[in-house]
Parts: sequence; structure tokens; C-alpha cells
Amino acid sequence: MKKNNNNYISIKESRKIIKYNIKQMRYYESLKKKKLDVKDYTSVMHDENNIIEIENLKTCFFTDNGTVMSVNGVSFDIPKNKIVGVVGESGCGKSVTSLSIMQLVQAPQGQVIEGEIRFNSDELGQNEEGQKLGYNIAKMPTAQMYKIRGQDITMIFQEPMTSLNPVFTIGYQLDEVSFVHTPHISKEDAKAHSIDMLNKVGISMPEHVYKSYPHELSGGMRQRVMIAMALAGNPKLIIADEPTTALDVTIQAQILELLKDLQKKQGCSIMLITHDLGVIAEMADYVVVMYAGKVIEKGTASEIFHHPLHPYTIGLQKSKPLITSSTNEPLYSIPGQVPNPINLPPNCYFKNRCNKCFAKCDGEYPEEIKITDTHYVSCYLYKEAGGDNDATK
Ligand SMILES: Nc1ncnc2c1ncn2[C@@H]1O[C@H](COP(=O)(O)OP(=O)(O)O)[C@@H](O)[C@H]1O
Ligand code: SF4
Ligand SMILES: [Mg+2]
Repeated sequence: MKKNNNNYISIKESRKIIKYNIKQMRYYESLKKKKLDVKDYTSVMHDENNIIEIENLKTCFFTDNGTVMSVNGVSFDIPKNKIVGVVGESGCGKSVTSLSIMQLVQAPQGQVIEGEIRFNSDELGQNEEGQKLGYNIAKMPTAQMYKIRGQDITMIFQEPMTSLNPVFTIGYQLDEVSFVHTPHISKEDAKAHSIDMLNKVGISMPEHVYKSYPHELSGGMRQRVMIAMALAGNPKLIIADEPTTALDVTIQAQILELLKDLQKKQGCSIMLITHDLGVIAEMADYVVVMYAGKVIEKGTASEIFHHPLHPYTIGLQKSKPLITSSTNEPLYSIPGQVPNPINLPPNCYFKNRCNKCFAKCDGEYPEEIKITDTHYVSCYLYKEAGGDNDATK
């Protein structure tokens, strides 16, 4: 919706926005109530080795100030048994992307308005042409999503205290996971499984912790319990949204090591969200760099760390603190601010902060350029690999 350029909204404009929002929210909510056939939310996987394929995902919030384009045409894949790191400054749409995958975007204000989130489920098999089918989570009915959420796809949040219920013991909450996933499991078996999970996440007195309440545990222990819960149902994908941000540095390293170790052992994928490039460097196989609701660069960890191309990715790397650095110079920070997500500019969103900006950048938002089969960047400095002005050569 068009708005004045200054940040002031008149009563007339405000009424217009509210009217528009109600209409939009009603429309998207009515779509969710439609009775759908499985084929309406089934799609062909582009590569059967991916567990998730996100294509042109758009998620927005209809707020009183206007429509916030939180996720604005995001595309990336999460291959099976790999860790994909999603990195970017606060507010760039990382959490909203993950909430869209879980169908947990705050409705009715928040809505997935476009795109596909294909989940490679074993239930669906292949189509007549032998192509692997997947569920399109963006269109999937909520009742169907219950079967996937918490079982095939689980989530570890930043602050474990807000995700654990303070009035129930750890054991009670862990057993619940078994009861939900294996309805006929006996109480004894559920307890044995819970204690086994606590053991797996490196808790030294699991029987004791089983009987404890969340407030009796340290932050690191609580995060271990959250990991145990996330792993209890043998998920295919774990979304870890800033899983160690609330912990101190040594505990952070232990938790990350544990996550990586369990991921290898259990053979699942992890979408690891963080604003910390150092964490990504330690953990990820693939990296997705987000800026203002868009993916501006993606590639293998080696491509992003050794051949970063987008000026924003290069800036992020420069702003990463190094223990080995001997200078006393202040840490580099990228000057300027992220554009207002309600009033996004027509050209490159990084333009007002970019030190490489040139005449071409006045054009519309740059298209995604393929550098290698895995490395993509959205910036006018580059051309498709093999193109005339190939800046990567
Ligand atoms: N419930 C909400 N209502 C309105 N705007 C929201 C809501 N949740 C997130 N946003 C907006 O969406 C954008 C992306 O947020 P988020 O995905 O949480 O960022 P981050 O990359 O830090 O995880 C931000 O501009 C934020 O203000
Ligand atoms: S398109 Fe231009 S302004 Fe945008 S990041 Fe590239 S060089 Fe900078
Ligand atoms: Mg977040």
C-alpha cells in the first residue's frame, strides 16, 4: 500500500490501512478454511536430496503502520543430513522464515502470501514421471501440519526458559513428547526413553534432572533439555533459532558441538539461525545470507567464507571479532541502517550502505546471479559465470 514518504500517517491514511488490512487478513484466513485435497498441497521436489526447498517465499504482517514485508521472495534449499546456516542482522527475516516453515507465523496479521515450502516427506512417494513428491507447507491445512510439526520438523528456541513449562518437571515434559509421537507407549518406556535422551545430550545425572523443575537447572542445562526434546521424535529437520545467544561463550561452544555431534549421529538436517558468522563458520555446510527480507547471497560454507561476493557479506566478515587480531582498533561495523520494511526502495536494498555502489545500482532490485551450482549472489557487480563482466574471475 502506498504511503507518504515521511513517517507521519494521517487519520485518513490510517483508516485506509486498517480497511486494507482487514480485507487482506480475511482473504488469507478464508483460504486456510477451504477444504483441500492432498494434491492441492503436494508439489514435485526439485531435488530429492533436499529435505526442504523454499521457493519465492513471501511472508508479511499487516500492521497499523502498513504492510511489513518480513520475508520478501526468499529461496533456498536445505539438503538432507546437512547444516544450513542462515545469517543476517537482527530484523532481516530469519525468524519469520523459520516460523513460516513451522506454520507458526502470528495470524491473522502475519500471513504467507506467496511461494512454496516443499517438505520431502516419505509418505508421498513419486508421481507418474518418477519424480519425488513433497508437501507444500505454505498451503497445507493446519490439521495436517500437526503431524509434521514437532515430529518431522522440530524447533529449538533462543531462550529455553520461555519454551519449558515452569510448573512441570523436565521428565513430565519429555515424556509428553513420547506420548504424542508414540500414543501407545507405556509410562515406563516413555521414562526410559526420556532418560536415554537426557543421557544423549550429555546430562550427567539424568534421573535427577528427570525429576527437576526447569528453574532448578542452569541455562546450558535447559538448552540441553530443549535439544533432547527436539530430538526425541527423531526429526528430519531441526530449526535452531539463535540456540546459544542467551548462553555464555564456553557453554555456547559445548552446545554447538553437541548439536553437530547429534546431527551426524541421528542423520537429520539443521537450519541454524544466527547473527554470528563465527557460529556459522564452525557449524554449517551451507550458508544463506539474508538482508531486509531477501537472500542476498548463498553458497557452501567455503564459498561464503573464502569467496564472499556481496558487499554486505564482505562487510559482515569484516565486522566479525577475531581472537587472533592483535590491533586495538575498534571493531568494524557496516555504516547506515536497514531500510524500513514498510517502505522498501525500488532498487538494491543495500544501496544506502554500499561502498561499491555504481551507476547500474540505480536500476531495479538486482536479480540473483548464478556463480557456481551452489553459489548465488544478488548484486550488479557480478554477471552470470562466463558472462562478459564476470567480476568473479
Ligand atoms: N508479529 C509481528 N508483527 C509485526 N512485524 C513483525 C512481527 N514479527 C516480526 N515482524 C517484523 O518482521 C521483520 C523480520 O523479523 P524477524 O524474522 O524476527 O527478524 P530476525 O532476522 O531478527 O529473526 C522485522 O522487521 C520485524 O519487525
Ligand atoms: S547492487 Fe550495487 S548497491 Fe547493491 S550491493 Fe551490489 S554494488 Fe552495492
Ligand atoms: Mg530472530
